[in-house]
Amino acid sequence: MHTNSYSTVEDLSLEEQASLGSGAGFWNTVAVGATKSFILTDGPHGVRKQIASDDHLGIAPSMPATCFPPAAALAQSWDVDLLESVGIALGQEAKERNVGVLLGPGVNIKRDPRCGRNFEYFSEDPMLSGALGAAWVTGLQSEGVGASVKHFAANNAETDRMRASSDVDPRTLREIYLRSFQRVVEEAKPWTVMCSYNRVNGVYASEDRWLLTSVLRDEWDFDGVVVSDWGAVKDRVAAVRAGLDLEMPGGTETDALVVRAVENGTLESSVVAVAANRVALLSARVERGRRVTTQVDPEDHHHLARDAAAKSVVLLKNDQQLLPLAPAGRIAVVGEFAKYPRFQGGGSSRINPTKVDIPLEEIRALAGDATVTYARGFTTDGTGDDGALRDDAVLTAADSDVTILFLGLGDGQESEGFDRDTIDLPADQLALVAAIVAVQSRVVVVLSHGGVVILADIANAVPAILDGSLLGQAGGGAIADILFGEVNPSARLSETVPVRLQDAPAYLNFPGENSHIIYGEGLHVGYRWYDAREIPVTYPFGHGLSYTTFDYSDLELSSRAEGVEATVRITNTGDVAGREVVQFYSAMPGSAKVRPPRELKGFAVVDLDPGEDSVVTVTLRSKDLQYWETRIDGWRVEAGDYEVSAGSSSRDLRQSATVTVASSGPTVPLTEDSTMGEIMSNPAAAAIVMGALQGSSEGSETAATELGLDVARMMESYPINRLGFFAGEAGRPALMKLLQIVNG
Ligand code: GLC
Repeated sequence: MHTNSYSTVEDLSLEEQASLGSGAGFWNTVAVGATKSFILTDGPHGVRKQIASDDHLGIAPSMPATCFPPAAALAQSWDVDLLESVGIALGQEAKERNVGVLLGPGVNIKRDPRCGRNFEYFSEDPMLSGALGAAWVTGLQSEGVGASVKHFAANNAETDRMRASSDVDPRTLREIYLRSFQRVVEEAKPWTVMCSYNRVNGVYASEDRWLLTSVLRDEWDFDGVVVSDWGAVKDRVAAVRAGLDLEMPGGTETDALVVRAVENGTLESSVVAVAANRVALLSARVERGRRVTTQVDPEDHHHLARDAAAKSVVLLKNDQQLLPLAPAGRIAVVGEFAKYPRFQGGGSSRINPTKVDIPLEEIRALAGDATVTYARGFTTDGTGDDGALRDDAVLTAADSDVTILFLGLGDGQESEGFDRDTIDLPADQLALVAAIVAVQSRVVVVLSHGGVVILADIANAVPAILDGSLLGQAGGGAIADILFGEVNPSARLSETVPVRLQDAPAYLNFPGENSHIIYGEGLHVGYRWYDAREIPVTYPFGHGLSYTTFDYSDLELSSRAEGVEATVRITNTGDVAGREVVQFYSAMPGSAKVRPPRELKGFAVVDLDPGEDSVVTVTLRSKDLQYWETRIDGWRVEAGDYEVSAGSSSRDLRQSATVTVASSGPTVPLTEDSTMGEIMSNPAAAAIVMGALQGSSEGSETAATELGLDVARMMESYPINRLGFFAGEAGRPALMKLLQIVNG
């Protein structure tokens, strides 16, 4: 249970306590009494320590720091150990720059591909987001630097982000949009949680006591500090009352409002003291963390960034085994991203890198005796002569044995702060593809983008595609490593690539209207939607190829107290070493609840040499098999047969088996409004009711049966308190007795 003590600050005045609840400046907290000031800053894929002026949009310059791959790319590694290693490195660099809390990870779900901030989030799936986010927090905090898991909660669009209400039904909110936060809080215990700008079901997150106290603290046992997003507090007194501890940035002069509210009796002084105490305890944690420092060699972190990037590149297609390339012959490199790589997103997460690998140079470094030519092909800021650039690129591609074509989105085409209204690649790039494939059949497309882009036409036009998302400062080297086979690609998509934007789950409900966003697709976000509607996709969630092949065999399932243990044998059936990302999905065909066809419930990475095999064991935890039962406002596991599949993507399931799982969690009591369907699904109730109804309905049932009517089916939706024997005042005693017996 979280503490409500305020022992650390009880000697402070009310004014002093209130001052602890808001920043001293843009990035730092106040120093008062024994409590020292500390710095919070972004995150999440590098340390953005601003030098002169301050802003939260990535405008003013910041100190050089390693720019690791943003979350959209890192998530494609599906590698929790890698995420932890990156977290450790970030913690070391944060401490070097005297940063006490690094603002990340962003674990919001990628609800719609148009969201401008999807580059900063992990996935469309809450399990993948939660597991990777927890690993990042564990790594960072092991270095004595606090995390700030964000943006709590349901911040899934940039449009109108400081006012819009995410209108989400309770079950979807719990199972999809809160789930990744819950896993990070319960598993990695972040020092802080950042509340989001938006409203959730009409209430500002910064003022939502249900969210910030009932759920976060009372249910999830969070004992850290709730910090606002920068400028997210609309009403400081309401925020403090709801459980917000620290308003950022400072300078809003709202401390006096807090004092006045206590003095006029509209705010308990203890609430102010508890919040101040939490900030004081956080300051002490930061102080303790500062004691151990690590001398960072930027080159070491650059190598880690290159390894992380290489593990984050998805091989989407590789017809005729065009890849890996031989370091010989004539290699054309086309596209301005080869010379001016886009390696991170825009806005508050923008890092000033210690160095940047240039893909063209890195390709030349590994190309051996090959001749490497270059053509710009297009410009991302519209300043070029498209026709001339295209003609030059076509000539270069025609005069090559293989062409590497860099495509993607420029800084101005996606960013924090605004959403896209299309997910197509720019028209000039699509025209370039068509012109090049007309003269060159051996084309490798290399993509750099934060949000998903439509690939259907490209997938039909070229034999090989590498999806680099945004790879950080060492992405150029990583791409070269994969192109020439120094690294065997192993990454997997963490977000579906739809054939059309119109197929997307939230297509008709994004970005909303009049400051309301209706989450009409409910649970069916991402692959859950495409699978339920049996909609073809260009590349499915979890997809990714390798330069080798893997076989799956001997899937076995066993029900355990902690969940379902799944084991499967993976064999490298190719002739190069490689890594397989083994994914486990559960389905419950006979469920009484609305459920997506399958959901990710476990995953693991395994590295295998040619011919080597290994048994992979993953426990599908009971808590991950739970669903949110809205009738009792609680988590339950539904009893029944679960079909568990192991596969190489959500649509490449190699092995399946069924396991019976017992129910767990509070039962749903029957009530006088329970229907016959609900009664009959409860054996004890069914026996009593059928006995009672036997005499009174025998004749009519026979008649109905003779008419070929399915009485049971017809009566399923009939509330028991309006049914013959149990109806009205006369039937009430028998009904109450039934409910008493059945509900125990
Ligand atoms: C921004 C972002 C948040 C960031 C903060 C500080 O507006 O929403 O992610 O950490 O402000 O820059």
